[in-house]
Amino acid sequence: MCGIFGYFGPKKNATDMVVEGLKKLEYRGYDSWGIAYKTSNDIIIHKQVGKIGEAQITFGELEDAEEQIAIGHSRWATHGGVTQENAHPHFSEDKDVVLAHNGIFENYVELKEELLKKGHTFTSETDSEVLVHLIEDEMKTSNFLEATKKALSYVEGRYATLIICKSENMIIASRRGSPLIIGTTKDNKEFFIASDIPAFLKYTNQVNYLDDNELVAIDNTGARFINLISGEEIKKRNVEIQWVEESAEKGDFKYFMLKEIMEQKETLYRALNQEKDLIEKVADAIKNAFGTYIIGCGTAGKVCMAAEYMFSTIAKKHVNTAFGSEFPNYHHFLTDRSLVIAVSQSGETADTLEALEIAKSKGAKIISIVNVETSTMARMSDIVLPIKAGPEKAVASTKATTSQLAILMLLAYAVADKLADGKSLLIDATAQINDMINPRYEEHIRKIAEVIKDTESMYIIGRASNYPIALECAIKLQEVSYIHAEGFAGGELKHGPIALISKGTPCIALIANDDTKKSMLSNAKEVQARGGLIIGIAPERDPVFDYWIRVPDVGNASPIVNIIPVQILAYHLALLRSNNPDMPRNLAKSVTVK
Ligand code: AGP
Ligand code: GLU
Repeated sequence: MCGIFGYFGPKKNATDMVVEGLKKLEYRGYDSWGIAYKTSNDIIIHKQVGKIGEAQITFGELEDAEEQIAIGHSRWATHGGVTQENAHPHFSEDKDVVLAHNGIFENYVELKEELLKKGHTFTSETDSEVLVHLIEDEMKTSNFLEATKKALSYVEGRYATLIICKSENMIIASRRGSPLIIGTTKDNKEFFIASDIPAFLKYTNQVNYLDDNELVAIDNTGARFINLISGEEIKKRNVEIQWVEESAEKGDFKYFMLKEIMEQKETLYRALNQEKDLIEKVADAIKNAFGTYIIGCGTAGKVCMAAEYMFSTIAKKHVNTAFGSEFPNYHHFLTDRSLVIAVSQSGETADTLEALEIAKSKGAKIISIVNVETSTMARMSDIVLPIKAGPEKAVASTKATTSQLAILMLLAYAVADKLADGKSLLIDATAQINDMINPRYEEHIRKIAEVIKDTESMYIIGRASNYPIALECAIKLQEVSYIHAEGFAGGELKHGPIALISKGTPCIALIANDDTKKSMLSNAKEVQARGGLIIGIAPERDPVFDYWIRVPDVGNASPIVNIIPVQILAYHLALLRSNNPDMPRNLAKSVTVK
């Protein structure tokens, strides 16, 4: 899921620019980092384990030369442990070629076996290293560019790569499935190649999106784009992007996670402030489709599940939901009359993208509900519904989640031809959230976190649209507190999971003031009877609650308000357990591998 960044141009501080660019891409992976840069007769690699954001390092100016070449990588390990050897960039055996790779080469085992038979020796356990060995082999009979094209034809899987070589002043970048964007200065003399635009937006807003199965070779004659399937050179036009870098600063907050939780007061208004025509256009697409699938991964996947309930309750309409990674199993139901709606904060999640590729190949219509409007998902969609949450930096999604829920609920109302009712309900809910989130509220939740901070396991229960929210609460708690947390449908506990409850086991009950309330309170009682400690998130206090966290009574919008106290609880549990809530272990913000 790594972030990669390359620079070709005259600036002598190329290496420090790469480090700075990588810091902006750190959200994509922070296990280790490394850079490689060219000197007049060599390539130097520096790499180390740990977060680049914490690295206090400057490389200083490079030797005087017309073009400086440097590439870098911030890693989220997929193959091979988090070690210096496995950190990218990787050298070929003859040290002529160097590679930074984002993605997975799925057939690396077979390729490695063949290379080992040919006498190659490897220095890392990564899948990535096979590509530099393949290029090295091909370079015995071809130049750098031809050898790279050939070597790329052997690898399977999704990737974005940056490759440089000692003997030629060229950066070769290629893409299949993982994002890669080329920024060029107006004079066409400087090139930035990165996994995401903010990494170079400071230098240029003139960009060119590399598409799948494309390669770009950058040298002192400019950028040449090549289609890797036909082998032909292609013309691609630069586009000037209008946005300025949205700098997300922590302000008075210690961590982005809390800042983003608090921002929900405004982000929800922004999400609801959609063009009426756009909402109605999407609602019509849902009404007219011969089968609607709403897909996403992780938290976005739970939002999709909640949407299924919302459409059922509000619009009396059945929509299908699936996780991006499971969606390929439904491909036989897709036709050119199907509609697939992707929900994603980043718009770059590989599992969701792959699902969309399948849908596209069947001629289905694609709509995306995304936060990053320049993302791959947005670019491949027929219609884009932006959630307008602004940059979400913390790995744990908070404000994007509630914005996605709000937009999907608005759509459910629009499908029921009651858009105005939905909007006024959601605006009222947002106003009440505004009153709810204040320092006193946070302190109340922090005190509950203190009580349960040493628990090994905890459970969250909910019914109807609050059931997927229970699953989402579990993700939040797992991600940042590292406590074993699981969500269940309230009625399901007695069918097995209740055996897990013992004295003092915390159980959060998400309660809405609707016809599920009585059953939910009974479920909470059942847990309490086995010694469980009940934390009730509900509009009204009930004797079964050992602790009560009040939420406003907002009718159908209950899933949106119920998630917020658990976001705050997860954040405080993380702090109390000395975890970094913004960059939890083993995770990355953007999951661009399968
Ligand atoms: C959320 O807290 C998680 N970090 C994760 O589950 C995330 O929602 C998932 O990876 C999907 O990301 P996306 O919204 O960018 O597609
Ligand atoms: N598969 C490569 C590795 O493990 C790249 C990882 C990635 O893109 O996340 O090093």
